[in-house]
Amino acid sequence: MPALSTSLLTLSLFLATASATIPAMSGYHVVWSDDFNGAQGVGVDHSKWNQIVGRTGNNRELEVYTSGTDNVRLSGDGQLYIIPTKSGSTWNSGRLESITSQSCTSGGAMVFQAEIWVPNFTGSPAQFAGLWPAFWTKGQNYRSSGVGWPKCGEWDIFEVTDKLSNKNQGTLHFANPDGTPSRNGAFKGRVTYAGGQYHTWAFKVDRRNSDWTQQKLTWYLDGTTFYSVTGAQIGGFTLWTELAYNPYYIILNMAIGGRHPGNPTSSTVSGFAASMRVKYVAIYKSD
Ligand SMILES: *[C@@H]1O[C@H](CO)[C@@H](O)[C@H](O)[C@H]1NC(C)=O
Repeated sequence: MPALSTSLLTLSLFLATASATIPAMSGYHVVWSDDFNGAQGVGVDHSKWNQIVGRTGNNRELEVYTSGTDNVRLSGDGQLYIIPTKSGSTWNSGRLESITSQSCTSGGAMVFQAEIWVPNFTGSPAQFAGLWPAFWTKGQNYRSSGVGWPKCGEWDIFEVTDKLSNKNQGTLHFANPDGTPSRNGAFKGRVTYAGGQYHTWAFKVDRRNSDWTQQKLTWYLDGTTFYSVTGAQIGGFTLWTELAYNPYYIILNMAIGGRHPGNPTSSTVSGFAASMRVKYVAIYKSD
């Protein structure tokens, strides 16, 4: 039935075009992605994501991460919604961790990228106090080899709170060679962005220079560099391999309260207005 096959092919091409949200990147190919296409209200693809449940106990955060679709679900128009909800004094929220971990190939480059909307923190409005949405990563060895934090390594690509107002801070977390955490060290860079809008946030690992001291980690807002760190700045080859050669996995979450954003108040809103919305997340590697 060639006519039917042709029309089915045409239809599926049309649908693919209408729903495709992973942008091409010149000189790169996608190695892993989620476009969050699917019916409204359904859960995420659990072949791609671990949905974390319970309390992490980190940073004195308040949120209780839930399973199911109360706090983590698809929009129906190609987005992931992570929606914090409040029940009495309990804040429920969502956290996803990619099952995949990816490392930058020797001599190549790799990009972790997502398009994200979060509440408009510009001017530190009271209704968003205590919300802490983030797109970040941890080193795979944290969950597979028992390597503790911060030695496992962490790339904070996008994390914002009302305390940061209209700024995002890109940060590296790692352990100094003597084992002390360097999380409060010099390796963080802020960028001003227009709140209440979708933006593309990306992080590139670039090992294309054969001299490791010239290899680089770079943070991008809508395709423009806002921060970078070279191997020379990190200063030690082993430490550099932990940050730039090891595999990392993606975390998308909405934390609530604790010592970074401070706790929510009675003015803090919950529900859709307080959500994090993600059009896609993708990992690219150089061709
Ligand atoms: C975000 O908030 C600032 C400060 O109130 C405001 O000027 C800006 O228009 C808001 N942006 C959007 C998209 O609502």
